[in-house]
Amino acid sequence: MKILGISCSPRKQGNTELLLGEALQGAQGEGAEVELYSVSGKTIEQCDGCGTCWETGECHIKDDMQELYKKLLEADGIIFGTPVYFYAMAAQTKTVIDRTMALNRPERSLANKVGGIVAVAGSLGLIDAVKDLYFYIVTRRMLPANYVAAYGGAKGDVKKLEKGMKAARDLGRQMVQLVAKKFEYPAEFMAPPIAYGTHTF
Ligand SMILES: Cc1cc2nc3c(=O)[nH]c(=O)nc-3n(C[C@H](O)[C@H](O)[C@H](O)COP(=O)(O)O)c2cc1C
Repeated sequence: MKILGISCSPRKQGNTELLLGEALQGAQGEGAEVELYSVSGKTIEQCDGCGTCWETGECHIKDDMQELYKKLLEADGIIFGTPVYFYAMAAQTKTVIDRTMALNRPERSLANKVGGIVAVAGSLGLIDAVKDLYFYIVTRRMLPANYVAAYGGAKGDVKKLEKGMKAARDLGRQMVQLVAKKFEYPAEFMAPPIAYGTHTF
């Protein structure tokens, strides 16, 4: 079983990475193979909306996202880690999730993987980041696990949060427990994503 943590902070060894590291330790303690992937220093371009991936399942942008696609597909559980930038998930996080539009085919999708969230903010905006990531996880047909939302401004601040660090370890453990359940959505849920949303007729 593989659990992948993606740190979408551009700040190396910042609070997002620290909490994710803790979550992954929790998962490892339960026997999972774990990996922490940081987007810091990577080149991940924005989705250009070309629509090719809808036809091919492949993104034409040949950048570091290509290796992340492989890691995402190999993982059984994925923890999305984001800092809050201006009351929302950081643009780096949004860029990664936009690019996962290419994982939209039955044999190349995030469906049935377990999804967890780690979010860090100095003061305001945690719930906005968490709810947007939850919505993403649910509409990708992933199974949502818990989230950890923690306060930390300066690098390393979250280390002082005893309960926050424990919550992260618990999230990691719970990810493993959820993956072990081998949850699968019924086939009907795998149809094109038209069964949810706002209907105008
Ligand atoms: C561009 C930018 C915007 C930010 N906006 C917010 C914000 O809206 N609300 C907040 O509470 N903290 C904000 N912060 C603070 C970060 O969320 C905080 O420092 C966090 O610990 C960063 O995580 P990291 O260490 O993983 O990079 C902002 C930081 C930056 C660099």
